Amino acid sequence: MPSLLIRRPDDFHVHLRQGAACSEYARDAARAGWARVLVMPNTVPPVIDANGLKNYQRAIETAAPGLKPLMTFQILPSHTEEDIRQLKQAGAIAGKLYPDGSTTNAETGIRDLKAIYPVLQAMQQHGLVLCIHGEDPAAPLMEREARFLKHLKSLQTAFPDLKIVLEHVSSQKGVQAVLESSPRVAATITLHHLLFTSDDLAGGLLHPHLFCKPILKSPSDRKAIQEVVLSGNPKFFFGSDSAPHPREHKEGPQCKAGIYTMPVSLPLLAQFFEERGALNIMEAFVSQFGSNFYGLPLNSGTIKLEKEPFTVSKLYHNTVPLMAGERLPWRLASS
Ligand code: NCD
Ligand code: ZN
Repeated sequence: MPSLLIRRPDDFHVHLRQGAACSEYARDAARAGWARVLVMPNTVPPVIDANGLKNYQRAIETAAPGLKPLMTFQILPSHTEEDIRQLKQAGAIAGKLYPDGSTTNAETGIRDLKAIYPVLQAMQQHGLVLCIHGEDPAAPLMEREARFLKHLKSLQTAFPDLKIVLEHVSSQKGVQAVLESSPRVAATITLHHLLFTSDDLAGGLLHPHLFCKPILKSPSDRKAIQEVVLSGNPKFFFGSDSAPHPREHKEGPQCKAGIYTMPVSLPLLAQFFEERGALNIMEAFVSQFGSNFYGLPLNSGTIKLEKEPFTVSKLYHNTVPLMAGERLPWRLASS
């Protein structure tokens, strides 16, 4: 039976939500094989200070002792240098920039980038990474990422020592912009942008469980994402953007953006790499590049994936996962 043994992997972009749901999603992450996850701060209220960050981290650690949460906070224009110092001391490794209204719970997002320049200065000084939801919400849906990219340029010029991650890169232009940037600029790549296009979302019947921000794009965008991953470029590493919403928020008249990929991302990545004869690249993509970019030690220990069919549950705690009820060729071997 073909199998793959890799260093324990990291997911550099997840949403774990809060309260009882957070405990469930955190346990799902541990069960799915992840060693560390970078937890996005768009809870309600958002993670914006050291206390909130520590409480959130503790809640995740208590719920899922095997999982190491890496913490982020949401950047606000009102943050002072002292706030940033305290956030770092509390355990933050990154701050997240949400343009105003760009996605779920981004109503307190940033309107004017210049307004947060002092905060970015402090982040640069304290060695925190800037994670960006790189979309201009004022642009037409399909153009939002492309229209944001000019800001990526000006941020690099203004903060040459700041490490920047363009989160969930979804377009050929986004990939190109990161390739052309300094080594301090990287991108996370999700499972869904690697595998699907807008036709899967809405080319036939509408598939609400493929609706996310940034929206899935064209086959040529997907091709650019696949090629850069298969090229083994260390600027591009895995961040699932696993974003669970209760079933009624996905299947009702107003579908929330976000795809619950956590339970299936490792099996589907193994399938993706195997089908392209590139299983040897998977470990670097999920277990090395991100960790190196963030300057973290690599995880110790391994996980094993095996080519044994597994049927995805239809529902996890009232949340429909990607590929619900479908049979996948690869699964995580039980340890
Ligand atoms: C995310 C969520 O639901 O929190 N949704 C999404 O479509 N990706 C937010 C985000 O990362 O944009
Ligand atoms: Zn996200």
